[in-house]
Amino acid sequence: MKRISTLSIAIGISFALVSAAGHAQDSADLAALGKKLATNNCAVCHTFGKGEPNGQGPNLFGIVGRPMGAQPGFKYSAGMHAASSGKVWDEKLLDAWLSDTQTVAPGNAMTYFEGDEARRRKIIAYLSTLH
Ligand code: HEC
Repeated sequence: MKRISTLSIAIGISFALVSAAGHAQDSADLAALGKKLATNNCAVCHTFGKGEPNGQGPNLFGIVGRPMGAQPGFKYSAGMHAASSGKVWDEKLLDAWLSDTQTVAPGNAMTYFEGDEARRRKIIAYLSTLH
């Protein structure tokens, strides 16, 4: 009896340690995982570095906190112009945008969406580091 309870305490402690370590790693690695996703899924159209040229889509350096449709030198679509007024990119708006750009800016020209909430969270964590 005593042996079983010692064993279960030991198992309990190691689970606690594993999950605590996993949690710390989660937050530390979120942006790194997001960078990989962005490189694979967005970089075909977007650049992320400061001062890098626009591609098929606008450069995304500093996107969090930037007004919508405001990247110098990028020719936004009429749909994007119509939806942009007074809006600033924050995490919530980016989440809505990546889920379905057409609900945020009907008629916009970005033909990409990310249906997976966890992947969006990682991508947005990465975008938040671009300052
Ligand atoms: C096939 C090309 C393409 C891909 C892939 C793509 N985008 Fe875009 N993105 C665009 C275009 C084009 C626009 C401008 C839309 C317009 O003007 O209607 C845009 C606009 C944006 C904007 C608004 C920028 C601003 O200045 O207001 C954000 C944010 C954005 N994209 C994020 C992303 C992210 C993050 C990914 C990857 C998860 C991604 N995009 C994938 C083409 C793309």
